[in-house]
Amino acid sequence: MRITQNTLQKMYQNGEKFTILTCYDASFATLLEKAGVDVLLVGDSLGNVLQGKDTTLSVTLSDMKYHTRCVAQGSTNALILTDMPFGTFQTTPSCAFNNAAKLLAAGAHMVKIEGGRSMADTVRFLTQRGIPVCAHIGLTPQSVHQLGGYKLQGKTDAEAKLLLEDAIILEKAGANMLVMELVPAALAKKITQELSIPTIGIGAGSDCSAQVLVLHDMLGIYPTKARFNKNFMTDALSIEDAINRYVKAVKSGEFPGTEHQY
Ligand code: KIV
Repeated sequence: MRITQNTLQKMYQNGEKFTILTCYDASFATLLEKAGVDVLLVGDSLGNVLQGKDTTLSVTLSDMKYHTRCVAQGSTNALILTDMPFGTFQTTPSCAFNNAAKLLAAGAHMVKIEGGRSMADTVRFLTQRGIPVCAHIGLTPQSVHQLGGYKLQGKTDAEAKLLLEDAIILEKAGANMLVMELVPAALAKKITQELSIPTIGIGAGSDCSAQVLVLHDMLGIYPTKARFNKNFMTDALSIEDAINRYVKAVKSGEFPGTEHQY
């Protein structure tokens, strides 16, 4: 049976961690589901790992529709979460709705939007009209030029306060889940405790409700040096074995360890 946002909410309420990996094609969709991955994220990180770009800024809506269709073709039971790419949701809530609707038509079950309180009206507009939304705060790669690089966010007390406020505002606006990328583990823990929606960490410590990694990073295909990543192929016999190990390690709370957090 298909995992829905209700299933994830129940897992969260029962204290069961759920697992997410990025996925961009049908073959991996089938393989990841077989290994027990709950959510397939059609991430705009495909700009980096598939297209070879330095940033995600040139990824288009058509790219995201194409890869969502591919993933949907190979998927029978995971929830498909698709990133809204840069420039397709920031201008007006109605423009965001029109573009999100195209991603749902391609096979997504939920869309992900980068940004804090400035995105609250958009989150409200979409969720009130039947489109589930995962918000994304902390390091938001689409704002790399404004942030001055891919670096840890929420380091000072003032920054941490703003991020906590953002999280609360987004939940109140109707966000179904919240990704936190590259934030100190203690801050991610506090935000997780304050919210009643699942938090998904990447470089945000082990106290989040779920974890996500980029598939090509955790398989050691993409040459990342990020501290939060773990190459699950190192001890694995096959790709399937590596994905199984990731699922087990997240569910048991073994990953991320202290060496992967800030
Ligand atoms: O695009 C992506 O892969 C993401 C994850 C890093 C969370 O947004």
